[in-house]
Amino acid sequence: MQQVFTNLELQTALADRASSSLALVPTMGNIHRGHLELVKSASQQADRTAVSIFVNPTQFNQADDYQHYPRTLDADLEQLAAAGVDLVFTPDVEQLYPHATLRAQVEATVAATGLEGAHRPGHFRGVATIVCKLFNLFQPTIALFGKKDYQQLAVIRAMVEELFLPVVLGAEETVREADMVAMSSRNSRLTAGQRQIAPLMYATLQSLADQIPAASDYSSLEQSATATLNDAGFKVDYVAIRDRYLQLPNQQTRELVILAAAELGNVRLIDNLEIEH
Ligand code: PAF
Repeated sequence: MQQVFTNLELQTALADRASSSLALVPTMGNIHRGHLELVKSASQQADRTAVSIFVNPTQFNQADDYQHYPRTLDADLEQLAAAGVDLVFTPDVEQLYPHATLRAQVEATVAATGLEGAHRPGHFRGVATIVCKLFNLFQPTIALFGKKDYQQLAVIRAMVEELFLPVVLGAEETVREADMVAMSSRNSRLTAGQRQIAPLMYATLQSLADQIPAASDYSSLEQSATATLNDAGFKVDYVAIRDRYLQLPNQQTRELVILAAAELGNVRLIDNLEIEH
């Protein structure tokens, strides 16, 4: 596995590409099984597999969250090499943000409104901007993202479609622990007690899914799920039932996604469940 640190080294590493296809898995490191599933899928879909590891400061709206984001580069590199990754890009902040003030940014509109967008102002601007930079640097044939960050995927899809970016997006199912907690780099920051409560988030989404076919009022389902989680010790930002484009559904909408975001202590967890009824 080749590791490159600068934009120039990346360009050189990709110079011999000719017509070979390249799959990119953008990450912020702290590689876990969720990332490795993306890598596996990437390697099945392209000649070469590349991973970027960059904890992107512009998508964090709390300095504390950025500072405490787990950084485990040595272990990450070991796992990626073992998974057969060809190229890994590990730039520093100056490499991707060379100017003190950003001179251009990418802003998604509808897809970034509400849910995470309402609770994390500027977050999706940071995500869209860094992903656009990475797409321009790598010029991948395909880029893979996990469905755990459902709204992030919608934002990136909107950017790719609206700006005619020449890349195919791949979306992979959320990878879960044995107790169904969605894999996330943030899970490692949960205390033992919080980790015991964490499975209730997905269990609540499942219970909500079971109630949807007979329900006439989705907002009361959202409220009772919120109360269940709050009572268990979460501090809920939202539990929301949406259509697959994250818009409010009506009773006739068959394909839905249930999304939740909540803090356990100072760790913010998100999860979602797609259903068809
Ligand atoms: O999902 C992530 O890890 C990040 O938001 C991404 C897509 C790598 C952009 O920094």
